Amino acid sequence: MQVLGIDFGGSGIKGALVDTETGVMLTDRLRIPTPQPADPQHVIPVIQQIVQAFNYSGPIGIGMPARVLDGVVTSAANIDDAWLEYPGQEMMTQAIGHPVVLLNDADVTGIAEMHFGVGQGERGIVMIFTLGTGIGSAMFVRGHLVPNLELGHLHLPGRKHDAEQYASDRIRQEKDLSWRKWGQQLNAYFQYIEFLFSPQLIILGGGVSKKAEKFLPHLQLRARVVPAKLRSEAGIVGAALAAIGKES
Ligand code: BGC
Repeated sequence: MQVLGIDFGGSGIKGALVDTETGVMLTDRLRIPTPQPADPQHVIPVIQQIVQAFNYSGPIGIGMPARVLDGVVTSAANIDDAWLEYPGQEMMTQAIGHPVVLLNDADVTGIAEMHFGVGQGERGIVMIFTLGTGIGSAMFVRGHLVPNLELGHLHLPGRKHDAEQYASDRIRQEKDLSWRKWGQQLNAYFQYIEFLFSPQLIILGGGVSKKAEKFLPHLQLRARVVPAKLRSEAGIVGAALAAIGKES
């Protein structure tokens, strides 16, 4: 089945048609810069534009950087506040005229990795972290998604700020942290994650996962830690799977 997956991120909104049996993108990605302000009023027309560009009709999956509960956006850490309590799934479905499934971006990345990436066949506790502007998190227990984890906002004991303030890739870049320094901060974060959730496998996504060899040596964890396989395609592929109910 060919399904349109869309990845709504901070700098770009990207879409492509995906073969949901193989996880292969059947078209090039169409990328449109995220409009400013990136509120529903400006973002939904861009999504409409992507749907039209593919001349697509059918179910559409969309991942976005927020907690999405039953189609309603309930957090806005790195996105416009206008999304808070916004019934995104319903409004997009109405505007586009095709059924939309709206999910958290880390959840869709996880869905893609579990189906077609390094999570394939893993039945234990698998956690996926996307290290970018924020920290996205997703967890699969025996292949089932536990949605909307929001562990980027976890506070380590004794720390004033949440994990995104010292372990995201944005902070590494903004503060010009060495791989070693950032790796150590990431290690403290993941050790606490491990203490709380005991994952067997941790999958790391986000652009920085391409440079995993620079910071993996600083992680001392019981869990296996591996970079994501699908990389920048995961958001689109996972969204397409979610659109047809293939979450787990
Ligand atoms: C948001 C999450 C999102 C993550 C990655 C966080 O700030 O709260 O919902 O998954 O950023 O985009």
